[in-house]
Amino acid sequence: MKNMLSLLALAGIVSVTGTAYAQVPKGDIKAAEGKVATCIGCHGIAGYQASFPEIHRVPMISGQSAPYLVNALLAYQKGERKHPTMRGISGSLTDQDMADLGAYYAQHGQDKAKPVPDQPAKQPTAEVAALLQKGACISCHGANFNKGVDPSYPKIAGQHADYLYVSLKAYKTEGQAQLGRANAIMGAQVKQFSLAELKAMANYIGSLPGDLKTVPQSKLR
Ligand code: HEC
Ligand code: HEC
Repeated sequence: MKNMLSLLALAGIVSVTGTAYAQVPKGDIKAAEGKVATCIGCHGIAGYQASFPEIHRVPMISGQSAPYLVNALLAYQKGERKHPTMRGISGSLTDQDMADLGAYYAQHGQDKAKPVPDQPAKQPTAEVAALLQKGACISCHGANFNKGVDPSYPKIAGQHADYLYVSLKAYKTEGQAQLGRANAIMGAQVKQFSLAELKAMANYIGSLPGDLKTVPQSKLR
């Protein structure tokens, strides 16, 4: 029995470090329509700001890649991402809910979207170019920052710059109860940059065209 339990525990550990998305059920866009009411109050209001840990716009999630959305929700649920509000919200979601929400938001607002060019529409300053080069950011996020080399990597082009900065800082934060994101890849990335450098990159990436949108929605439909 004891052996069986430790085997199960081991299996649990393996599944946490492996790609979480692989085990998630297939998302159902229709089913998600009954589940987005809570999300709309923040993610469905253009320019809506959060005040924690500093004032910034809430991230755009419409048009984001589905596997990334699911991974992010799982990370809040597991506490790898410590943001208190999103921890609370993800805590009540089942794996099926997350899959449905991921599938829903990935296509949300994309029907009339213009395709984003593969190359960035705007060149960075020499200073920012050197930072992006140092971090090899495009090797994972794509040359236009809108197409991750793996679908579980986020689209970041055109995301609110103030949110991008807060998220980059979060990967740098360790040992705090309510703040921070544990992610091996991005944790290693951000350590090599100062906060001013992270901000400069966030401002450039946030200024690029991308798929991400806030789609205003009414709760009464
Ligand atoms: C009270 C406001 C609020 C509500 C309600 C809310 N969110 Fe969030 N959400 C936020 C904030 C603020 C963040 C940024 C958290 C951080 O810094 O990690 C966020 C982050 C996220 C992220 C990560 C985005 C990224 O680019 O990494 C996802 C995914 C997400 N929310 C999905 C949802 C879904 C799905 C719902 C509904 C079930 C929801 N949220 C409800 C405020 C909210
Ligand atoms: C080896 C691949 C890789 C490299 C290189 C990389 N990233 Fe990332 N990035 C990721 C992954 C994977 C995530 C999602 C992490 C998570 O789930 O929290 C991510 C997340 C992010 C986020 C958070 C997005 C959000 O919506 O919350 C930002 C911002 C970001 N990366 C910017 C950068 C910048 C700027 C660089 C270069 C300095 C960079 N990344 C280099 C893979 C990479």
